[in-house]
Amino acid sequence: MKTDIQGTVSLLLDWFHQSGRELPWRKDTDPYHVWVSEIMLQQTRIETVLPYYARFMKALPDIEALSQCPQEKLLKLWEGLGYYSRVRNMQKAAAVITETYGGKFPERYEQIRTLPGIGDYTAGAIASIAFSEAVPAVDGNVLRVLTRLTGNESDVRKERAKKWAGELVRELIPKQEPGAFNQALMEFGEVICLPSPENRCDQCFLKSFCQAYVCHKTDAIPYRSPANPKKTEEKTVLVIRDSAFYLFHRRSPKGLLAGMYELPNTDGFLSPQEAARKAEELSGRTPLRVEELPPARHLFSHVEWRMKGYQVIVENMKEPRKDDYFLSTAAAALEKLAVPGAFRAYMKYVR
Ligand code: ADE
Repeated sequence: MKTDIQGTVSLLLDWFHQSGRELPWRKDTDPYHVWVSEIMLQQTRIETVLPYYARFMKALPDIEALSQCPQEKLLKLWEGLGYYSRVRNMQKAAAVITETYGGKFPERYEQIRTLPGIGDYTAGAIASIAFSEAVPAVDGNVLRVLTRLTGNESDVRKERAKKWAGELVRELIPKQEPGAFNQALMEFGEVICLPSPENRCDQCFLKSFCQAYVCHKTDAIPYRSPANPKKTEEKTVLVIRDSAFYLFHRRSPKGLLAGMYELPNTDGFLSPQEAARKAEELSGRTPLRVEELPPARHLFSHVEWRMKGYQVIVENMKEPRKDDYFLSTAAAALEKLAVPGAFRAYMKYVR
């Protein structure tokens, strides 16, 4: 039996109109609101995004405010969301919109797709939701829904699968409400057609249309080939403090986590003696006590950091001579500095 996939379109739309969640970026179709929400939602869950979105919109209510925001403030607004290139690219795109489009968000998919940080998915989401252009927006949720409905067992890690899904959406998408249809697919993937074993087939109004369900393959579809193992790097992170201040480092303006603030750290695992010596070298003061902290791990997209940590209490520090190192109280650091999530386990000791 071939799926009557055309028959699912109006059911999905009706369901979305009745049960779609009220989300702050759905109050209107302002492209800036759609854009910021879509960028935040990449790799990040809706519940996590909600407070960030509210704070971001309050601080930077429009494209002009975003384009003029100092980098320190921008990174602080993003702190904890990770993948900081997302917000750096948004600021670059805001500059392009200002210079090329007179500050008005471009309306056509092809124009939107050329902006920094905007790929096929995000361009499709903005063009369809904000400008009612009938183009697909295929994210991982949509891919799961479509492969299950049609019983497609090909590898969703491959570009070919995304291309197939995009073409299928182009055939199905209603010209009257493309934004609602794309969001219905996304939402259906987020609340019903969840990854196994969380899938809620018992509550699903499309199960009689679903090839994966009918053929008992909802655990096998979508098929995803195993990922290459991530490279691992060993690091030692130092919480270097005296009675009032902590030592911080500003990362270089290029490369991973560019320009963000971090606790001093080195490659490799140090012994307590080596950690004390490193703290002395960086702070210029004599270490009084070294305490080993629990190990931690952090996954970036392409590497994993395995971290060992030490708290080193030193004699009262003066402003360090070394470039890019500086002193901060705990309160000022927590309020002002954008520290990557990789250091979260050790920022607990800055208090
Ligand atoms: N996930 C990402 N963007 C979304 C949207 N606009 N609606 C529902 N889920 C989403």
